[in-house]
Amino acid sequence: MLRTHTCGKLRRADEGQTVTLSGWVNSYRDHGENLVFVDLRDRYGLTQVVFNTEEDSEIDELARKLRREDVINIEGVVRYRGDDLVNPRLETGEIEVRAHSLKVFSRSLTPPFEIDGTELPNEELRLKYRFVDLRRAPLQENMVLRHKLTQAVRGYFNDREFLEIETPILGRSTPEGARDYLVPSRVHHGAFYALPQSPQIYKQILMVSGYDRYYQIARCFRDEDLRADRQPEFTQIDLEMAFVERDDILGLIDGLVSHVVKEVKDIDLQTPLPRYTYADVMERYGTDKPDLRFGLELVDIGEVAAASDFGVFKSVIEKGGRVRGINAKGAAEKYSRRLLDKDLKDFVGEYGAKGLAYMKVAGGKLESTIAKFFSEEQQQQIIQMMNGEDGDLLLFVADDAPVTSAALAALRNRLGRELELYDPAEFCALWVVDFPLVTWNEDEQRYDAEHHPFCEPNSEDRELLNTDPGKVRADSYDLVINGYEAASGSVRIHDSEVQQTVFDLLNIKAEEAEERFGFLLEALRYGAPPHAGIALGLDRWVMLLAGNDNIREVVAFPKTQRASDLLSGAPAKVDEHQLKDLRIEIEGLDEE
Ligand code: AMO
Ligand code: AMP
Repeated sequence: MLRTHTCGKLRRADEGQTVTLSGWVNSYRDHGENLVFVDLRDRYGLTQVVFNTEEDSEIDELARKLRREDVINIEGVVRYRGDDLVNPRLETGEIEVRAHSLKVFSRSLTPPFEIDGTELPNEELRLKYRFVDLRRAPLQENMVLRHKLTQAVRGYFNDREFLEIETPILGRSTPEGARDYLVPSRVHHGAFYALPQSPQIYKQILMVSGYDRYYQIARCFRDEDLRADRQPEFTQIDLEMAFVERDDILGLIDGLVSHVVKEVKDIDLQTPLPRYTYADVMERYGTDKPDLRFGLELVDIGEVAAASDFGVFKSVIEKGGRVRGINAKGAAEKYSRRLLDKDLKDFVGEYGAKGLAYMKVAGGKLESTIAKFFSEEQQQQIIQMMNGEDGDLLLFVADDAPVTSAALAALRNRLGRELELYDPAEFCALWVVDFPLVTWNEDEQRYDAEHHPFCEPNSEDRELLNTDPGKVRADSYDLVINGYEAASGSVRIHDSEVQQTVFDLLNIKAEEAEERFGFLLEALRYGAPPHAGIALGLDRWVMLLAGNDNIREVVAFPKTQRASDLLSGAPAKVDEHQLKDLRIEIEGLDEE
């Protein structure tokens, strides 16, 4: 037997037992006096092992040569460390194992960084040596959390008669809006598979086929610009149901979220989760994924701004823009002039804002270089609208509506963090419903689907489809957790005529629709039930529960911002003959 116990198992109650342990040498201390101490590690914990090299002279040389990360096997007797020597920080801290045999399974090169070091090496090194990195306790905890979450999800759906069904990885391009990863076909010259951006079309077809409760822990692939919360391949908890309406899905997911956070984190979540309309959150928070662990709502002071003498504000209002602000409560002394004029201004500048105006509330009045442009009465109006009190800092952006939203939403998040307005461990989930069906694409002068082209238009807005499509709401919904989009879904169109109307609106020609989604359209003509669904970003959800803001920390083998796997070196060149098989020639290699 290579081990009788794991390295996290032994306690004082095991005193006197002969045990066999295997693991990695976490640390090694040669105390002279013939005593060698080794902390033996596996993913369950650490156990202190002691060699007495005089008494067991045959293992003397072997024990003295042990180095960090060697993999060994020992046999020995469990003993109490003694009252003075107990280590309360270790679960096995009461005991040690006095080893009388030692076998070295394999030796390790000097690891590129310490497994339990306090300072993390740079992420590139960690990703290159991911096999070492994955030995670190925080990553192991994340992997365990991910496993538990996945199992809790499966348990929840299995208890409710859902079927887990796999859909193809080699498929056709799907409409999630990112660039596809393509796989050339060897057999069909010039033809390509697309890796799925999501199982969207296949799951809808499963509904047509009568599998009325489907779920899948699905891998998805999107060739898009990566950010801290995005990976080019990621995992969705994907589901679809037939004969349901919007509230059935929201209720089901309310139950899922509260079940899972209870199971994996022992957090009690109040359900139903609060619901906000898209219009409401855009107005109050400037974003469709507000972090509601704190307040700092946006306030529109357009009316006062228009009547003031401040040219910047007036001209923006005249051009149809907006002046909105936030009250950074009690922060008047926290931000120096330099910070306000440079850091914060540049910060909102990244979101298109041309400036950041600020006023402090002091002695019941406004204090600012621009205060002179506002009459006494206007100042009082602003203070009142913004709920101002002495010591508050009022910040304003004047621009067209989308810029004021984007800039102030980002500023709000930054202030929330910097002013420590919330407990980072808090878990705040909510629904945003009634998204617009389409958004206007200024560059291409056409409408884009806000979510994807299969979302059911809200029945109350059918008339607007022809007259004012930008105002049509979709029967769609997002789950937002701590300011992240954690899930997205909708009621689907199950009527091929409505589907055609939406394609027309999106300027997707009948031919193109047939070419891209023909198989779904055809399926919808053969008896399609009303259906709806949603997909949760599993990686993001684990990241939030792990209290992390980097998605790579919860993916075993993640990719970098440039979509490389530093461990394997993917993507990589392939053999000439592989290209030949595919009849592919690479252009312009010499130029790079
Ligand atoms: P959507 O594109 O919104 O919807 O994706 C659903 C959820 O998946 C997560 N997500 C990602 N996570 C990590 N890296 C990425 N690159 C990434 N992209 C998305 C997000 C997101 O909310 N088929 C529809 C769902 C449906 O309508 O049922 C879809 O894929 O958490
Ligand atoms: P200026 O008159 O350009 O010197 O600007 C006076 C103040 O107004 C400065 O603090 C600017 O940062 C701010 N400001 C300028 N443009 C805007 C804008 N579009 N929105 C908000 N504040 C602005």
